[in-house]
Amino acid sequence: MDTRNEQLQQVALVTGANKGIGLAVAEGLLRLGMTVFLGARDISRGTAAVAALAAQGLDARGVQLDVTDQASIDAAADLIARDAGALDILVNNAGIVVSHARPSETSIEELRRTYETNVFGVVAVTNAVLPLLRRSSSARIVNLTSDLGSLALAAGDEDFPPLLSYNSSKTALNAVTVAYANELRAEGILVNAVSPGSVATDQNGHAGLLTTEQGARLPIRMATLPAGGPTGSAVTAGEDLSEHPLAW
Ligand SMILES: NC(=O)c1ccc[n+]([C@@H]2O[C@H](COP(=O)([O-])OP(=O)(O)OC[C@H]3O[C@@H](n4cnc5c(N)ncnc54)[C@H](OP(=O)(O)O)[C@@H]3O)[C@@H](O)[C@H]2O)c1
Repeated sequence: MDTRNEQLQQVALVTGANKGIGLAVAEGLLRLGMTVFLGARDISRGTAAVAALAAQGLDARGVQLDVTDQASIDAAADLIARDAGALDILVNNAGIVVSHARPSETSIEELRRTYETNVFGVVAVTNAVLPLLRRSSSARIVNLTSDLGSLALAAGDEDFPPLLSYNSSKTALNAVTVAYANELRAEGILVNAVSPGSVATDQNGHAGLLTTEQGARLPIRMATLPAGGPTGSAVTAGEDLSEHPLAW
């Protein structure tokens, strides 16, 4: 139940928001008039992003948040509780590609590192802020997945990019998304996986086709779904910014 004044701004948390798609999502939500907590594992990078937004007249709140560090996650959740009292939108955006190693060349250490951020970090952050999301009357969770996590697309395709750790971490994230959607459906909390399309960022050496602003469109749309919107779904953006269901 939303115990806050109806007039209060919506409150959002975006992880890994100091650059790339996360920064563009934070900017887009700010432009919608929301209070946005901009999560950054390195607070100096977060402070620089907050300053860049401030130069455009946008007032984000930087929060130190390393999704692999439980103490950092708990401190961020406490800060949001103190400052805002509730959370309406969680965008689990932080994600890493450690290498492009194919399965036979992948170390367990790399697999663990990738999952710590891309999978376990999402569960840790979601559970930490769930009490705050439950205080909202319209809570939404968006998990940034990838077409590379789709088993339906990969199966039988020898040319499918073979990076084991990243691809399988996003497949696991899809399973996590469905599990939370099922648990939270009765409470009206919508949980969806969004592949932003191929976006030019540091993650791919800026080889992506879309700008970060374009890549942020679908995550923002899914973060602002009306009541009764989809939950437990996955969507992806095409090069022309068209939106399609993403096959699991
Ligand atoms: N770019 C694409 O085409 C594409 C396609 C499909 C899916 N995605 C997904 O979209 C999301 C954003 O990707 P991007 O392309 O914007 O990548 P990016 O430019 O590399 O940005 C990744 C962000 O995640 C942060 N991060 C990494 N590890 C973290 C941790 N342990 N705790 C908190 N933050 C952490 C990074 O912080 P630092 O600056 O400190 O490293 C950075 O802010 C990822 O989940 C990615 O897998 C991207």
